[in-house]
Amino acid sequence: MCEHLGTVVSTIEGPSPSKISFVVNNGKVHKGMFVEIDYSEGVMMLLVEDVVKTNRYFERPDSVKVIGEELEKNFPCADWEFLVANAKPLGVFFNGVIQRATFPPSPGAKVFCADNKRIKKFLSVQEDGLNLGRLQFHDVELKLNLSKLLQKHLSVIATSGAGKSYCVSVLLEELLSRKKEQGQIGVVVFDTHGEYTCFGDPLVNNGELSGLVDFSSRTKVIDGSKIKIALSKVSVHMISSMVELTPNQKRALGRILNKLREEMRSGSGPFDLIDVKNEVNNIDNEKTQSSLFGIVSDLEELNIFGKIDEPSIIDFVKPGKLVVIDLNLIISEKKKQVLVAYLSDKLFKERRGFGKKIPPFALFVEEAHNFIPEGTASEHAVARSYLRTIAREGRKFGASLVVISQRPKRLDTTTLANCNTNLILRVTNPYDLDHIAQSCEGLDRASINSISSLRVGEALIVGEAVGAPTFFKVRKRTSQPSRHETTLEESAKEFVAREEQLNDDVNTFL
Ligand SMILES: Nc1ncnc2c1ncn2[C@@H]1O[C@H](COP(=O)(O)OP(=O)(O)O)[C@@H](O)[C@H]1O
Ligand SMILES: [Mg+2]
Repeated sequence: MCEHLGTVVSTIEGPSPSKISFVVNNGKVHKGMFVEIDYSEGVMMLLVEDVVKTNRYFERPDSVKVIGEELEKNFPCADWEFLVANAKPLGVFFNGVIQRATFPPSPGAKVFCADNKRIKKFLSVQEDGLNLGRLQFHDVELKLNLSKLLQKHLSVIATSGAGKSYCVSVLLEELLSRKKEQGQIGVVVFDTHGEYTCFGDPLVNNGELSGLVDFSSRTKVIDGSKIKIALSKVSVHMISSMVELTPNQKRALGRILNKLREEMRSGSGPFDLIDVKNEVNNIDNEKTQSSLFGIVSDLEELNIFGKIDEPSIIDFVKPGKLVVIDLNLIISEKKKQVLVAYLSDKLFKERRGFGKKIPPFALFVEEAHNFIPEGTASEHAVARSYLRTIAREGRKFGASLVVISQRPKRLDTTTLANCNTNLILRVTNPYDLDHIAQSCEGLDRASINSISSLRVGEALIVGEAVGAPTFFKVRKRTSQPSRHETTLEESAKEFVAREEQLNDDVNTFL
């Protein structure tokens, strides 16, 4: 047993199997700490939900006001200050097995700081698990089991700037650092802001001086704006999310695509928009013809369709390797949607198919509320149904989803409900907090209330991956930070320095 912290007291509500208060008579007790009590049923593990200070001398506002400073001079006030901690029993260890708490310890029972070994057991910490950081108040690294964390999907939720991408980078590092015998999965990231492309950059001097790790040999960065997808594999539904089609146009375009697909099957090879244009040429109805020409030229402008997939993303999905699809340079929102839709569908189908051409994988979606929005009409959220399918069925096939968002309120409820583990950093918006409370099972009021006061890099993890809602500090990253991470001050100084340099150059020239 560790440090003796306090003694269980009798209150109106406890001690009970669901609530226990203790007076602190030694050391410091913080909200979020794990403590334990050894009693007749075994060793009870508890989480401190709140700490309250009381002092009898200061209970009555009238006497505090009237007596004022004399109070502390004439009475032993300091001796009467108490710290009372309210703790929630999480379970009872008996013969090495964790059971539900069904019987309370007695008032007067001693409370100790929880033993690290028992905390690890309780949280299912695994020595060779994914190391996300360190528990607050305990010398325990939060190393979590890969399957428990990812198999039933993970959501990473926080206000902008609270550390989502940093934390996700740490998770990526862990996934890329796994050894073959631990089980390696393929990792694909839809990188909306180009924050993960730095994984693909080799480090100067191999990072020896900076202590950073070089992940470039394990990373393939693909510029999303250059990706071509095979027109033959795109549905009219997907096309109608990019350009508006009347039912007539939909039918006409569908007929053309079907015809070209049939010809392809009988040996004439894959086709692209030029072939579609030739087919439109043959349409008799002038009105339909001219409107379809307009549509084809709109589609050409998006510059996304080709005869085949180029590059073929799935060729890069390998165990222990990372594929970053950089969507940062794509301006068209529709193009991003179609890329995410098409590639998610393709990844899942390749995994689900008989051949299982790709290894089990985790698909990370940044700014997930844009791709899996709640309530938006389906023609404007073409990626949603494909990502939802992975959320619903992925776990059976080794296809995991990690959704990252700063607006959980705008995130599809079905998808969020299918994320069995939630990693939450600071969230301040009350609507988002309410939404989190409703969609994250096992999250109590006390934890919800703490979310808004978390600092950058502090996180709460709840769900399948851990035995109880757990606060932790995200570990330091070992990959080089994103190039996008300059502050406003830095950008401003950089701009002026460049202008000055330019002026100098001009003056020298003159
Ligand atoms: N755990 C952490 N330790 C140190 N710095 C952090 C940590 N998490 C975030 N930061 C810093 O905070 C800033 C915002 O983090 P970021 O991950 O980009 O937030 P988000 O993706 O939620 O908008 C970055 O400058 C980042 O370096
Ligand atoms: Mg981010």
